[in-house]
Amino acid sequence: MSIVVSELRHTYNEGTPARSEALRGVSVVIERGQWVSIVGHTGSGKSTLAQHLNLLLLPQSGSVSIDGTDVTRDAKNLRGLRRRVGLVFQYPEQQFFAETVRDEIEFAPLNWGVTGRELDECVEMAVRSSGLDPALLGSNPFAISGGQRRRAALASVLSMRPDYLVLDEPTAGLDAAGIRELRQLMASVRDEGMGVVQVTHDLEGALANSDRILVLERGVGVTCGDAESVAEYLLRSPVQGLLMPPLARFIAGLRERGIHLPLTAGVGDVINSLEERLGCEV
Ligand SMILES: Nc1ncnc2c1ncn2[C@@H]1O[C@H](COP(=O)(O)OP(=O)(O)O)[C@@H](O)[C@H]1O
Ligand SMILES: [Mg+2]
Repeated sequence: MSIVVSELRHTYNEGTPARSEALRGVSVVIERGQWVSIVGHTGSGKSTLAQHLNLLLLPQSGSVSIDGTDVTRDAKNLRGLRRRVGLVFQYPEQQFFAETVRDEIEFAPLNWGVTGRELDECVEMAVRSSGLDPALLGSNPFAISGGQRRRAALASVLSMRPDYLVLDEPTAGLDAAGIRELRQLMASVRDEGMGVVQVTHDLEGALANSDRILVLERGVGVTCGDAESVAEYLLRSPVQGLLMPPLARFIAGLRERGIHLPLTAGVGDVINSLEERLGCEV
């Protein structure tokens, strides 16, 4: 079970002076039970790709298939397919339309015919998983704090129990504790079998947390793989706007001195190697 994106292209405003090629041939596979990060500089096409994953945008060229169904070939099925992929927007405000947070969260399940006790359970589960303060259920979603707004947006997507969860820059505006909580949530839904896609420009966070990483540069997928292979690629071929984490840069420096460690090694491994090499404790 997976989302398969193949040679995807998307151009905004074709045929006008504002023409902009956002995606220029991107391929990626997102398996259920995996956490895939899409990283790249601003304008590299991350949000455009995210919107193709939940079929808000449809392929102009190339293909997207969800659990074996090609979305362009099976257009009558779009509604059912959209239900499987929840997208939390880069700006949660873009997603809200209801008067209260509760209405926002109930919208999707109500739309699928869920009512009564089952509906309450859906809302409760979504509130719990997203870390939203339940006291805010009666509030206007535009009137709550930035962090809680992000959680409300997340809850309104989780309430439809998607098979894939796509989050566009979910850590923006969160403090360190908020980021940690969100990462725990993403890991736990991944471990329950959901496919998780995180769009981010935070390479360090992506290297530390995801199972696979796709790097976009000006609309092209330049590399895709596990953290170590992506770090190796970026060391050889730096991508504008993506900074290697300081520890990885340090490890790259050690290599020039004959100490070979994976670029994604932790501080403990680095210290152990240095101690071995120097024959003393550092
Ligand atoms: N709605 C839009 N209309 C026109 N151009 C757009 C639109 N959305 C994005 N773009 C352009 O497409 C390119 C990719 O944008 P985007 O997918 O938002 O990248 P990212 O999320 O990585 O910052 C940029 O050049 C951007 O200006
Ligand atoms: Mg974006």
